[in-house]
Amino acid sequence: MHIGTTLTNYIIERQRDIEGATGEFTGLLNDIATSCKKIASLVEKGDLIGVLGAAGSENVQGEEQKKMDIITNEVMIEALESNGHVAAMASEEMEDVYNLPEGKIRGNYLVTFDPLDGSSNMDVNVSVGTIFSILRAREQKETYSAEDFLQPGTEQVAAGYCLYGPSTIMVLTTGDGVNMFTLDKDFGEFIMTKSGVKIPEDTSEFAINMSNMRFWEPPMKRYIDECLAGKTGPRGKDFNMRWVASMVAEVHRILTRGGIFTYPIDEKIKAKGQEGKLRLMYEANPMSFIVEQAGGMSITGRERIMEIQPKALHQRVPVVLGSKNEVQVVLDYHREG
Ligand code: AHG
Ligand code: MN
Ligand code: MN
Repeated sequence: MHIGTTLTNYIIERQRDIEGATGEFTGLLNDIATSCKKIASLVEKGDLIGVLGAAGSENVQGEEQKKMDIITNEVMIEALESNGHVAAMASEEMEDVYNLPEGKIRGNYLVTFDPLDGSSNMDVNVSVGTIFSILRAREQKETYSAEDFLQPGTEQVAAGYCLYGPSTIMVLTTGDGVNMFTLDKDFGEFIMTKSGVKIPEDTSEFAINMSNMRFWEPPMKRYIDECLAGKTGPRGKDFNMRWVASMVAEVHRILTRGGIFTYPIDEKIKAKGQEGKLRLMYEANPMSFIVEQAGGMSITGRERIMEIQPKALHQRVPVVLGSKNEVQVVLDYHREG
């Protein structure tokens, strides 16, 4: 029996292609892998170790925090602050930038993460995930601020997610395609199980929270209406629908068999003074990088997500991503008004 390509093998190999690489990036990805292994183990144990349910607090976005939102955030910080690979971090669960405590060595990378995406699914035993995005720190200093993180998605050095489902799967891009690594829990290694992942260009499967239909803008309403009209409608084919309510699980399905996922802007979101539901820096940008690297498209409806100049750490954006030809239809409808 052979071992296969471990995540560590793969990262070390990639490092050889990068001139002047010092091993810091390799170390950083290893730190992320360690935290994801720990989170996978906590997710799996669930009620046995009393980690389900609400924490009784709210995050900076005014959302109810689950116990696991807080625990997984702590796991990420512990794994990332100790080895000198990270300059500073930002997370969905922390209002401000997390600067390393005094005495800890500062590395060259800024990391943003959603430690547990889809956390409301934890209590009902449905797939959840961790999303991360890696940027370069443009300067070396003791204390970083939000401005240091406000780089467009095109500046990402790497992005990925770890899906905790029937299998634990790490999906990673360093700007050279998308690879998937499945965790073999018996010996604690992520093993490459898919390389050069490509999203089919066409699809007849969409994912949207239909309960918001009455709040959508006309182009999105038109798009979904036409999907629902099926074979005898303008699209000339029947569509299938999915909604997991964990973006990680939706993106993973799309990488596996194609599809379109959207959380569009709507009147309800606008009434709260927000520009979208999903967060640019640790949900939309990393997922856009992965999707584009797999040959898909990722837009707000009107523009490419990765080209947005971020204005704030917790900025929200509308998201439409997935199979290229289908996302193009949505873009065309928005352009037509
Ligand atoms: P989080 O659990 O990190 O707050 O993210 C949940 C997100 C996303 O994963 C999912 O697609 C969406 O919110 C679900 O929203 P609805 O509950 O409005 O369907
Ligand atoms: Mn999330
Ligand atoms: Mn989350």
